[in-house]
Formats: sequence, structure tokens, C-alpha cells
Amino acid sequence: MVNSVGILGVGTYLPDNIVTNDDLKGKVNTSDDWIRSRTGIRERRIAPKDMLVSDMASEAARIAIKDANILPQDIGMILVATVTPDHSFPSVACMVQESLGIPSGVPAMDISAACSGFIYGIVTAMHFIQVDTHQYILLIGADKFSSIIDWTDRNTSVLFGDGAGAVVLGRVRHNRGILSFDLGADGTGGKHLMADPLVSMNGREVFKFAVRQLPLVTETVLAKCSLTNQDIDLLIPHQANTRIIEAARVRLGLSEEKISVTVDRYGNTSAASIPLSLAAEIEQGKIKDDEIILLVGFGAGLTWGAVCLRWGI
Ligand code: UT7
Repeated sequence: MVNSVGILGVGTYLPDNIVTNDDLKGKVNTSDDWIRSRTGIRERRIAPKDMLVSDMASEAARIAIKDANILPQDIGMILVATVTPDHSFPSVACMVQESLGIPSGVPAMDISAACSGFIYGIVTAMHFIQVDTHQYILLIGADKFSSIIDWTDRNTSVLFGDGAGAVVLGRVRHNRGILSFDLGADGTGGKHLMADPLVSMNGREVFKFAVRQLPLVTETVLAKCSLTNQDIDLLIPHQANTRIIEAARVRLGLSEEKISVTVDRYGNTSAASIPLSLAAEIEQGKIKDDEIILLVGFGAGLTWGAVCLRWGI
């Protein structure tokens, strides 16, 4: 029988610097009212110029390793979901390895799937643990969009924030952890959201895709483990826009407390958004043993993915 795989520890890093909507008014022609009503965002965290993505990722990882009650030496593989690496190479994962003192020989690599990167990372980690290649895998979602934003473009500059979220994945008892997953991509939509080298986005196209795909992939992943919408205890979607989240909530027939919202505080943190939300929900005591938790990502590529978990170790 294959090993059951779950989340053993969680950690986050958010830069101290809070940038409100009013702070952005001086840079582009926008307003707090427009940003709040169209996106739900009130504020976001912006990292200092000299802070690297690997710095944020390492901080989140340290906390996750401690939370899992293991040591850096126990980590068998490092995965970092990011589209804003410090360098083309070495990978952020290799930089985290050095910074945390994870032993030489442990494999490390980055995963590029934009805002779906954390979900792609969980599914990758799960397969390595299932076949017993590695006992503990460190997975980090970390992005610093402030370094690739055109700060004169009001269409994109108000949307994003910086941050990192990390988890340690490992074996859990039977019927806990990941019950099912679904991943997908549609390269024909790549043109709608690109960084070349600065971010450009056809907001309406991405919006339509997200509103369609988020409920669809949620229902697919539930069906794969013979559950229904009514079984969901908490849905943690990628945090891009409260209107997208609200449309999905209504479509899936969920009450407000069953869907996680942190985009108001953090903005869109790309690959970090799902682990940041997960950590916020755990901190507020909203996730209990045996509950059904869905993590759902969507973003550039276009890409999407979901995992259904039964919480607990
Ligand atoms: O993480 C990856 C996934 N990303 C997403 O899911 C983002 C998906 N897209 C969205 O969330 C929304 O499309 C946006 C929030 C980006 C935009 O909202 P929208 O309701 O689709 O607005 P729009 O792009 O249709 O623009 C409406 C108007 C335009 O003016 P006109 O042409 O009607 O005169 C824009 O120029 O709002 C204007 N506008 C702004 N006004 C004030 C665009 N950005 C701003 C701004 N402040 N920051």
C-alpha cells in the first residue's frame, strides 16, 4: 500500500512594510474605493529592495521545520514554487539549502507554475513520499512581485504583495492527508498573464478563466475522492480577488466561514498565497483534526490545481 501523505508543519514570512491603497495613490491614478470594490484588497506587504526571495523562503521554512518537530538535517528534498527567483540559477531551493544548513546531497529544485505553483509542489512532493524515496519534503511558495511590477501601471501594480509560506510534508496515518489531487494547464492562455520582464495582464480574461476554473477544479478533486461540496469544511483558494472567491463560494453553495480570505491583508502573493492563508486559518484555530480542507490554485500559464486533504497526522 502507498504511504498517506500530509502536512506536518507550517511557517510563514511576511515583510514588515505595510503598503495601503492610499499609499499607492501617489504612484498611479487610483483610489482606495476602486481597489477595495474591484479586488477586496486593503493593503499588502512589500519587501525591501535588498531582500531576496530566498531570504523570505528561508525564514518561512525555518518556522515550518520547527513546527513539524524535525531538524533541517531530516529534510530529504527541497521544492520552491516561485516565478520570481533571485537568479535564473542557482535555484531558490539551492539557496534555501545553504541558508538552512540542509545537508549537501539533498536534491533541491524550483517549480514554475505561477500562482498554482504551491499546488504543483504538493503533488510533486506527495509522489516522492508515496514511493518512499524521501521521508520529509520541504515545500515553500515564495514570490516577490514588487520586483517585477511596472509601478506606473495601475492595472497590475495595485494587485500584488510579497511573502512566503512553507510546509513540511511527510507520512501520516491511513485516511489522513491528501485524498485526491487534480492539476491542469492551458498554454493557449499564456498571453493573458506574462512577465517579460515586467508583469502585464489581460485582467478580464484571467478573471473569466478564474471564475470558471476555481469551482470546476474544486468539484473535480472532490469527485476523485467520492466527496461532495457539502463535505468541505474549509476551502482555501488562491488569493487574487475577493470577487473571484465570492463567485466560487456562491457557485459551490458554501457559507462564508467555509472559504478563506486573506487577499484583503496581503494582496495577491502568487505562490505564497495558499500557504499564507493556510497558516492564518491554523493560527485562528479554524482547522481541526479530521476536517476536509481543499487547497485550490489558478494562475499564469494558464495553470490550475487542487488537492483535497483530510487534516491530521
Ligand atoms: O494571480 C493570478 C490570477 N490573477 C487574477 O485572477 C486577476 C484576475 N483579474 C481581476 O482580478 C480583475 O480583472 C482586475 C481586478 C484586474 C480588474 O478588475 P475589472 O473589474 O476586470 O476591471 P477592468 O480591467 O475591466 O477595468 C475597469 C476600469 C478601466 O477603465 P475604463 O476602461 O472602464 O475607463 C480601467 O482602466 O477600471 C480602470 N482601472 C482602474 N481604475 C482605478 C484599472 N485599474 C485601475 C486602478 N484604479 N488601479
